[in-house]
Amino acid sequence: MARGKGILAADESTPTLTKRFDKLSITSTAETRMAWRELLFSSPGLSEWISGVILYDETIRQNNPEGRGFVEMLDKWGIIAGIKLDTGAKPLAGFIGETVTEGLDGLNQRVEEYYKLGARFAKWRAVISISETSPTDACIEANAHALARYAKICQEGGLVPIVEPEVLMDGEHSIEVCYSVTERTLLAVFEQLRVQEVKLEAMILKPSMVLPASDSPAQVSTTEVAEATVKCYLRNVPAAVGGIALLSGGQKEENATAHLAAMNKLGPLPWPLTFSYGRALQDRPMRIWGGKQENSSDTQAALLELAQANSQASIPSS
Ligand code: 13P
Repeated sequence: MARGKGILAADESTPTLTKRFDKLSITSTAETRMAWRELLFSSPGLSEWISGVILYDETIRQNNPEGRGFVEMLDKWGIIAGIKLDTGAKPLAGFIGETVTEGLDGLNQRVEEYYKLGARFAKWRAVISISETSPTDACIEANAHALARYAKICQEGGLVPIVEPEVLMDGEHSIEVCYSVTERTLLAVFEQLRVQEVKLEAMILKPSMVLPASDSPAQVSTTEVAEATVKCYLRNVPAAVGGIALLSGGQKEENATAHLAAMNKLGPLPWPLTFSYGRALQDRPMRIWGGKQENSSDTQAALLELAQANSQASIPSS
């Protein structure tokens, strides 16, 4: 949450990263996934804009040919390593089309192991989808409960939890519907965080923005997104929360940056408001890379440009 810095979410599971590689005809192997991540993280001067990187289990265990692991490399570059702790969103029994995020079984032992491997923060993503019949209270409650249990286990084991309740952009719903679902979700999440006695000062919230759905006929301006999002957070996120780091959720990269900048003009806000983007930081660099070593410096230049733009957008400018 350092001023002017954000988080690079590079914790795609192997199936998700493989899907992204496939679209660009890049072969997905443990070696190419490692090469991609090493290329990103070693971009010269990245730590000026990025304070933390979220890793996936495979990555945190990989060593480069000289035998150095990613945590050690990141540390040398001045970046803190985090780890994705959930094991994915699975069908919620009894509620067709909805999911609950799993991974609580044995979580305290996994936290202990990742701490020893050098992780100092973690992420758990809950997925809330909007349709005519969803989200149900069952879905919101089950996910909020799991998020709070995960956050408490992290704090007990010395990791800062990133609590990520993502309301998906898929569909045709309006910004008003997104507002009310985001509000319902945040209320339930903070109620469960209270019940589990999670220390709000020692957690980061990673919410989605309040937006019309990607296929909504009623698209709105950057200012309207910023105002609706900030209003929703001011009403539902306690001021004690250590910080908010937004996800990009499939928005175009320029929109993700413009929305963040517009929100930071609406302050003063009670928490630092920055970014923890995956696709909005990686999509363009990945297209430029295409799996070819000769494109390395252009790839790193693209990442640095995006990271710098988002860093600027994260600085309050009111
Ligand atoms: P996006 O920014 O691509 O939504 O990814 C962030 C993330 O960490 C999703 O869990």
